[in-house]
Amino acid sequence: MPILIHPDPRLKKKAAPVADISDKLRVLADNMLSTMYDAPGIGLAAPQVGILERLIVLDCVKGEGEAPRPLVMFNPEVVAASDDLNTYEEGCLSIPEQFADVTRPAEVTVAWLDADGNPQQEDFDGLWATCVQHEIDHLEGKLFIDYLKPLRRQMITRKMVKLKREMART
Ligand code: NI
Repeated sequence: MPILIHPDPRLKKKAAPVADISDKLRVLADNMLSTMYDAPGIGLAAPQVGILERLIVLDCVKGEGEAPRPLVMFNPEVVAASDDLNTYEEGCLSIPEQFADVTRPAEVTVAWLDADGNPQQEDFDGLWATCVQHEIDHLEGKLFIDYLKPLRRQMITRKMVKLKREMART
């Protein structure tokens, strides 16, 4: 699936809760996972493929030879966050080649519905905690560059405008 590149108005919109997990949405989740692995990336939110529904996919297993752990989350919600913070250098498939330090709660408890519609809840830390918060932000129309100082954000946005112009030309 083509991934939207910032700036795009669809990346700034709040996504709607999923009322009914249909087969169509399950297929979408599978396609999003393939798109994410192909990119390659560790997380992808539905608005990034132009679908304004509350669906994210992620897999932060990085080690060679480690079993993948694809997670599909409908209506994910952070229900608790630690006071402890963690800073990671974040990137985003919608903002290619740009990375910046973002500070977020180090541990979060997330509740969501799985692909079968069953409620799930889990504590995440490390890269998983950062990634799941980054993806949930996408559902609120928020990008990691929104945490940066305006000048830095504008600089990155200008680069993306230029990149999109070049992509449109080829
Ligand atoms: Ni992202």
